[in-house]
Amino acid sequence: MSKHVLVTGGAGYIGSHTVVALVEKGYTPIIVDDFRNATEVALNGLTEILGFQPTIHRVDVCQIDEMRAIFNEYSFHGIIHFAAYKAVGESVEKPLQYYQNNLVGLLNMLSLMEEFKVLNFVFSSSCTVYGEPKETKEVHEETPKSLPESPYGYTKWIGEQIILDFFKSAPDFHLMNLRYFNPVGAHPTAKIGEFPLGKPNNLLPFVTQTAIGKQACLTVFGDDYPTRDGSCVRDYIHVMDLAEAHVQAIQFLEKQEKGCLEAVNIGTGTGTTVLEVIHVFEKVSNQQLNYQIGPRRAGDVIEIYANATKSQELLNWKAKRSIEDAVRDAWNWELALNELK
Ligand code: UFG
Repeated sequence: MSKHVLVTGGAGYIGSHTVVALVEKGYTPIIVDDFRNATEVALNGLTEILGFQPTIHRVDVCQIDEMRAIFNEYSFHGIIHFAAYKAVGESVEKPLQYYQNNLVGLLNMLSLMEEFKVLNFVFSSSCTVYGEPKETKEVHEETPKSLPESPYGYTKWIGEQIILDFFKSAPDFHLMNLRYFNPVGAHPTAKIGEFPLGKPNNLLPFVTQTAIGKQACLTVFGDDYPTRDGSCVRDYIHVMDLAEAHVQAIQFLEKQEKGCLEAVNIGTGTGTTVLEVIHVFEKVSNQQLNYQIGPRRAGDVIEIYANATKSQELLNWKAKRSIEDAVRDAWNWELALNELK
């Protein structure tokens, strides 16, 4: 019988791509999403890619009784918990909403997995738990965590701490924190992708929206940093590579005979500057991008990229797609979205 995996936030950006990757490996994803930060477009796209409509429950993960009813309905093999708020700037404006939603959602998932003895659990964490790297810009999983810059970052930082304390009290569970670097790109069919509601905060959606005319001009936040061209360095990871990492995390956890808790970086191991991303976009889309250099953005890390050895050793996973692939897929998705309207 196919294994049911609960995917909270499964209609969102990373969640929807993970649903595809799960089906490709024979799992049955059960989506829980209340659509506060997702759209029907994702659901339609998923249905087209999969050839069937995935099972979806329109429930808020913070509503524990409604979630318990779903746990009663299925015998879950594992849980991938994406459902959370993710905008750094917004979290500074609305800290209570961020702590409420991100922490209550996580606490509910852990309580229900304990109640229903669901062994395998994957948590969406972030490289934000490392803060600004001190000596080397390449961070590995043992790099000491530092205090985050935003309430959003704290929700991931505290989330990992909650999971650690839970594991100490319940050491038979199989738990994994995946620390994402910068997810970008879209499914190569251009049927699902990132769908920023309102003005995008992240670089690549801003690039593609500028190129298509939804935004007038991209501002590069600073070109006077101590990096090779003065702009910030990030590790951009194709969302389908990231999605596959979740499936490999479940495959790793289900093989374990004893309880475990692991943190794993999910990145390519290569840093790319903001200006390099723009130049890749200009090359793959064969057009000039309207951009200007502006002041630094408060709270930006200067340079960070993953040491990606643990993911390979533990999960047998490494990024297969290039930054060119990611930028091309993001652009095709923007073009496809434009057709829809
Ligand atoms: N940038 C611009 N102009 C823009 C948008 C972004 O120059 O209009 C630059 C930023 O200054 C930064 C880089 O592009 O140097 C990437 O910025 P993003 O906002 O796309 O991503 P961040 O690295 O700031 O944030 C991401 C995730 C967070 C996570 C964080 C951890 O969005 O969820 O990485 O470092 F917490």
